[in-house]
Amino acid sequence: MNAPLRLIVCAAAIGLALACSPNTDFERMRQQSRADPYDAAASADGSTMRTPPAGSVPVLSMTPAVVRSGAREYGVFCEVCHGRDGSGRSIMARNMVQAPALSLLTRETTARSDADLFDIVSHGRNRMPAYDWALSAAERSAVVAYIRTLQQSGPGATGGTSR
Ligand code: HEC
Repeated sequence: MNAPLRLIVCAAAIGLALACSPNTDFERMRQQSRADPYDAAASADGSTMRTPPAGSVPVLSMTPAVVRSGAREYGVFCEVCHGRDGSGRSIMARNMVQAPALSLLTRETTARSDADLFDIVSHGRNRMPAYDWALSAAERSAVVAYIRTLQQSGPGATGGTSR
């Protein structure tokens, strides 16, 4: 083989080797699993994440951090109607015409399942507003956890001065 021919064959061989060697790093990146944001679904309201059916909050996390976060959200969103201690003694109660019972410490409310409370907080009921637009599911369960601690303290246990 003369020199120029050898050069051409050699260059071709190198080119072929480069073209054929799979770029493993690039492949690995291309094939990694990734999380895309949810697209709107074809359902009527376009939402992808379905509200869990009643009964699907089987375990209510009651860690101090969760209860603290629930207390914070409760103070922002709920206290105005249900009162600081959940007793229903609140600014709104005093001003609502035909104020409904706003206590969350009653035997009836205490007896409700976590899922029921979560559902009421999420979707509202009568004059109780819905909060699924304002609070994430985790925040709504944290608020429910906080209500449970208020109920455990019991009516009057907090000293609950009327405000
Ligand atoms: C504008 C006033 C208002 C605010 C704010 C409010 N609620 Fe209510 N809530 C009500 C009223 C009124 C009812 C009674 C609804 C009915 O008559 O069915 C109620 C009922 C409830 C009940 C059901 C009690 C039962 O056993 O029937 C729960 C639980 C509850 N609220 C939790 C909350 C939480 C948690 C928040 C904050 C995220 C909140 N509420 C914010 C007015 C309010």
